[in-house]
Amino acid sequence: MVSDKRVFVTGAAGCIGAQIVSNLVRDGADPIVFDKSNNRHRLKLFMEKPDQAAQVKWVVGDLRDQNAVATAMEDNRIDSVIHLAALQVPFCNADPTLGAEVDVVGHVNVFEAVRKLGINKLVYASSVAALPPKGQKWPATLYGVFKQAGEGIADVYWNTWNVPSIGIRPHSVYGPGRDQGLTAAPSKAMLAAAAGKRFKIPYGGTLMMQHVSEVADAFIKACRTNVKGAPVFDLAGESTTMFEVIQAIKRFVPESKITIGETEVPFVSGLSDSALRELIGDWPHVSLQEGVERTVTAFRILIQRGYVKSEDAYLTVLGEGHDSTYDS
Ligand SMILES: NC(=O)c1ccc[n+]([C@@H]2O[C@H](COP(=O)([O-])OP(=O)(O)OC[C@H]3O[C@@H](n4cnc5c(N)ncnc54)[C@H](O)[C@@H]3O)[C@@H](O)[C@H]2O)c1
Repeated sequence: MVSDKRVFVTGAAGCIGAQIVSNLVRDGADPIVFDKSNNRHRLKLFMEKPDQAAQVKWVVGDLRDQNAVATAMEDNRIDSVIHLAALQVPFCNADPTLGAEVDVVGHVNVFEAVRKLGINKLVYASSVAALPPKGQKWPATLYGVFKQAGEGIADVYWNTWNVPSIGIRPHSVYGPGRDQGLTAAPSKAMLAAAAGKRFKIPYGGTLMMQHVSEVADAFIKACRTNVKGAPVFDLAGESTTMFEVIQAIKRFVPESKITIGETEVPFVSGLSDSALRELIGDWPHVSLQEGVERTVTAFRILIQRGYVKSEDAYLTVLGEGHDSTYDS
């Protein structure tokens, strides 16, 4: 449908956004990327043909700049918005003020632009980190508190100005391109397995693992759904222990050498996404085993093409994998 074609995707130089943009192009839509970074390397990982990444319309801009966000939406006559740009846990910890500016002020800027331009389809990424751990009053991290604020902001924009939105809380996304953030370690383990290297996932415990293509499908379906209000939904994956991740990798790559650390990640698990599926319709589920096999296979191809190096598995979350465009 023409009215669904022009999709503004913030943060699409990142993992989930790159997969979303790739899926939108495949479906004949017209994505417009808004990102602080001009680095298209993750997009290249997902595009069917490598040169397609260069053709995607790309606005380099900072979410903290209200005018830049609104102008980019207006100039591109946007039909709908998928708002993903954010700083994740390690980056918020490294610079809390910047984290708040991007994750909270930037979030308001997106809602403000959408309100002024009368756009009525907005989907944004919250996070499982916005949920307080069992028995706690608040989320465990500043990032989680910022994401929780984002959900409240969405609610106020509906109650005060009738701006509809859908919030989606991914849990632990994995796949090619997932190279930064606390829960990137399982993807790095899959890259190490593809490259025939050893790897230690630095924590144990349970994550709800979600293959990035499944996450992208959910966001795209949501941005095509009319909604009244500002509902927020969990995006459930398979509750998976890190031991099960290793087993799934080993079934596909028997010679793989992956180990796990002692600490446990502080995330809730056992969530359901049935309410989201009821609202936007079903999307194909990717099982852990299938997702692991697709990811390792993709990494093998990407290593061959020279897009990914085996050393990338060992970059720290604040290492070169992060587009450090805040230095100026
Ligand atoms: N990956 C996960 O497991 C996961 C889980 C829960 C929630 N989320 C949320 O989903 C969204 C996408 O996650 P991801 O893994 O693709 O993130 P990512 O870290 O890979 O990408 C984030 C993108 O935001 C951009 N960005 C950062 N600051 C910006 C600014 N000031 N202006 C414009 N762009 C800016 C970065 O350049 C980057 O391309 C985020 O909001 C994240 O918090 C992700």
